[in-house]
Amino acid sequence: MAALLAGLLAAAALPAVAGPDAVRGAKLYEARCGGCHAVETDRIGPRHAGLVGRRAGGVMDFDYSPALKTSALRWNAQTLERWLADPESLIPGQRMGYRLGDAAERADVIAYLATLSASR
Ligand code: HEC
Repeated sequence: MAALLAGLLAAAALPAVAGPDAVRGAKLYEARCGGCHAVETDRIGPRHAGLVGRRAGGVMDFDYSPALKTSALRWNAQTLERWLADPESLIPGQRMGYRLGDAAERADVIAYLATLSASR
């Protein structure tokens, strides 16, 4: 536990120096989002291929909350930043029970999400 905590603190300390990094974002995505999301397949949450640029609630056969489905948002760096920091304040009534509290981690994950084209 102490080692895990030390590792997390070390990881959190890096991005402030280095700036957003999609490679680090990919690892964070596995660790933080992988329990519910995958790139190519829907799980508890919708698939993320082609996310940036698409409408919120845009995966055809995923069963979204009505709140997300009707939000009329489009995913870009700004909306993703607000969503990951606090989904409920961005879209009240949404169903993602997770926040990414660390701003540097959010920047890395968003940099990674931007690499996921729809055709992958
Ligand atoms: C506990 C499960 C869970 C975790 C962990 C989780 N999500 Fe989600 N996510 C969901 C669910 C469920 C939805 C659908 C919410 C709705 O319908 O209101 C969702 C929706 C989303 C959406 C909207 C997608 C769309 O098609 O409009 C994005 C973006 C997203 N998640 C990103 C992430 C990222 C990035 C992480 C990791 C930092 C993450 N999520 C972690 C469950 C989770």
